[in-house]
Amino acid sequence: MPNSKHLAGAVTATAFAVVFVLRHIIKARNYRSKRVQPIEERVLILGASSGLGRTLARQYAARGARVCAVARRSERLAIVAQECGNRCLPFVADLTEAADMERLRAQLLRQWGGLDTLHVCAGVSAVQPVMALTGVSSGDEDPDAVGVQLAAEIAARATQGNFFGPLIAAITFIPMMKRTSASPAILLVSSVAAIVPAPTRALYAATKAASLLLYQSLAIEHPEIAFTCMLPATIEGNFRSSAVDADPSQKLDETNKKGLRLDYVASRCAEAVDQGLRGNVVIPWFPFAIAHHLYYIWPSFIEKQARKKYNFTT
Ligand SMILES: NC(=O)c1ccc[n+]([C@@H]2O[C@H](COP(=O)([O-])OP(=O)(O)OC[C@H]3O[C@@H](n4cnc5c(N)ncnc54)[C@H](OP(=O)(O)O)[C@@H]3O)[C@@H](O)[C@H]2O)c1
Repeated sequence: MPNSKHLAGAVTATAFAVVFVLRHIIKARNYRSKRVQPIEERVLILGASSGLGRTLARQYAARGARVCAVARRSERLAIVAQECGNRCLPFVADLTEAADMERLRAQLLRQWGGLDTLHVCAGVSAVQPVMALTGVSSGDEDPDAVGVQLAAEIAARATQGNFFGPLIAAITFIPMMKRTSASPAILLVSSVAAIVPAPTRALYAATKAASLLLYQSLAIEHPEIAFTCMLPATIEGNFRSSAVDADPSQKLDETNKKGLRLDYVASRCAEAVDQGLRGNVVIPWFPFAIAHHLYYIWPSFIEKQARKKYNFTT
């Protein structure tokens, strides 16, 4: 038989849970009522010439939003613009170039008078074990200075694409979004790799983790903006072809058909912004969100699973 102490505890816990859920529902409702109508929404997608950004651009265009699709490859962007119709503004730019981002901001101000939603999808991959970047054939061999320098230069390319790019984009657009939107939202496409370590993905993971922490901190500094960080596991497509550490003699442009569906991940990104979700969204939540926490209490288990997943032997 439960005694009165247990009963009081259960009632208090239930009351807390109800208040928490109600608070969440009310906040989400308030946010949605302030949020701009889909047809009025001004959406900027950085990294939209292929993969997730391209799919997201098509989804926003299909619901009538104004979409600005940005990437470096003009011929690919032209195809995206055709797919998205006349409300799409293609813009050739490199998000790691401050001058390009300034030009883009001026264009959006001229053409749309501001910006409501920013998706930072652009990113580069890296696929080698760290020691292999130095050119040595085994992890037990001492690399020479030339090899170590080479590794540092490759790391700089990953940092440029995955950290400085998102940094430059955030700095360029945050003030303008605060001034010109009633409910500004920024979504960073990060990765599960940013929270769960993996062999052969160290540079990728480290640089994605850097931008993840950057955006999480920006969310604290700019509470008027709803910041979401999307952390997907492997997605279908040919992201590996962007590898900053690829051996030029090895072709990495095969399409991976095994990952999460592009349409699914893109709709989760748009939904998260529509709902004003803040913080990290890990997809799929199981096992990766668990793995992240499990690492704190049982790192050797996660390390073993990661070696297995990537078929990595020392
Ligand atoms: N694929 C996966 O398995 C996976 C898993 C988790 C997370 N993610 C993340 O998801 C995001 C999208 O990946 P994806 O699979 O869609 O790869 P993707 O097909 O290679 O798309 C990357 C896009 O970013 C653009 N881009 C790269 N660097 C740029 C730069 N400096 N300036 C402007 N645009 C740039 C590329 O266009 P241009 O080359 O034309 O500039 C391309 O449109 C990335 O941030 C990635 O880290 C991917």
